[in-house]
Amino acid sequence: MIRRIKGTQDILPGEIKRWQDLETVMRNVSRLFNFTEIRTPIFESSELFHRSVGETTDIVKKETYDFEDRGKRMNTLRPEGTASVVRSVIENKLYVEENLPLKLYYYGPMFRYERPQKGRQRQFHQFGAEVIGSDSPLADAEIINFAATFLEALKIKNVQVRINSLGDAESKEKYQKALREYLEPNIKNLCEDCNRRYVENPLRVLDCKIDKDNEALINAPKPYDYLSDKAKVHFEQVIMALESLGLNYKIDKNLVRGLDYYTHTVFEIDSDLETLGAQSTLVGGGRYNNLYSSLEGPDLGAVGFAFGVERLLLALEGINHETETDNIHAYFIALGDIFQTDALKIINDLRHGGLVIDYDFFNKNLKGQFKQADRMNPKFYLIYGEEEAKAGVVNVKSLTTKEQVQVKVEELYQYLVNQLTGRSCSGGCSSCDGC
Ligand code: HAM
Repeated sequence: MIRRIKGTQDILPGEIKRWQDLETVMRNVSRLFNFTEIRTPIFESSELFHRSVGETTDIVKKETYDFEDRGKRMNTLRPEGTASVVRSVIENKLYVEENLPLKLYYYGPMFRYERPQKGRQRQFHQFGAEVIGSDSPLADAEIINFAATFLEALKIKNVQVRINSLGDAESKEKYQKALREYLEPNIKNLCEDCNRRYVENPLRVLDCKIDKDNEALINAPKPYDYLSDKAKVHFEQVIMALESLGLNYKIDKNLVRGLDYYTHTVFEIDSDLETLGAQSTLVGGGRYNNLYSSLEGPDLGAVGFAFGVERLLLALEGINHETETDNIHAYFIALGDIFQTDALKIINDLRHGGLVIDYDFFNKNLKGQFKQADRMNPKFYLIYGEEEAKAGVVNVKSLTTKEQVQVKVEELYQYLVNQLTGRSCSGGCSSCDGC
């Protein structure tokens, strides 16, 4: 038997409703904040991620799915969505001034070759949003508020927003220098990867999963202490906006994030719900003011976030979020030979009118059809055989009231609609006494 690849998941019919409900909330909240969807390819030229996420990050160094195509070009399955959005905005010139700021969201599968565990897959889904073309701290606050509102709409309350600033290019450079000087006497005691990171990009030493509890890393200088005056003002204004939104947050001076493109604000939202296991970060995001220009685009400030959808679903399990199962309006029980009557036409007419109807393909007996029907939780059984066909009627049994009535075929659709919507009929039909 061929099995699914490690770290991937089938989303089975029994689980799909939870995904679809979440997707509805995603789209509804995006609408409230006036974000529009963008869909980009799931693979891109490898260079895009090397130059955006960063050559020295764990994502690019160890986790990308790279493949050479038949034209000998190197491609990569996208490990995240931001780089592709940037590429698309530049390539399609979406950045004309009257469109700015662009407010875009995306949703889809991402791929990272990580060690799979609860809440961490090799194929996972992200829902992300980006504000493009604004340097305003209001855009940072809008993005954080969007993420928080989304969690609120899902009724996930046990969350903590952690926020920090890496500052502008000038602040980042000063910080990197200070960090390198600080790490120099300690670097020999850190892991092999850290020694490489120290040379290539000392900020990445702080992401180390092996040495994360090492005193030297815990006591390392913090980016916050190297912010330029301009960067400080930006961060203060983001905080002021969060305050006036009444949003709970905590400044976390250790937060640096694992992707290279960030400048100024970085943030994460975690939850302490047990169902999340060790992967407690639901959302990660921040500002990236230099990414557009570094990919030969115009000089555009941007800020965004992304959620891990599988983690949101685990969080929803933790708050005992119940998903209502889909039920059908009616199950059509055909007695005798379905081909000898106009049963299929009746079913089709009801469906064309917008009613959800199902029926049996296996020529099951009556008991079998009732059993099958009950699995779908219908509001009505519609029972129809040769006798009913001759009389031009259908037996309609309500599973709510348990009553059974005969309804003329030509009045069936309106009868069902009236019953389902609780509307009374005009009294003209012969099947009831004015409902
Ligand atoms: P990220 O922190 O790498 O940021 O990922 C965002 C979220 O995706 C994480 O908080 C987590 O919930 C989820 N996630 C990441 N890796 C996995 C995995 N292997 N399995 C399951 N879930 C995962 C970004 O990707 C940035 N592009 C976010 C951003 C948008 N920054 C600015 N704009």
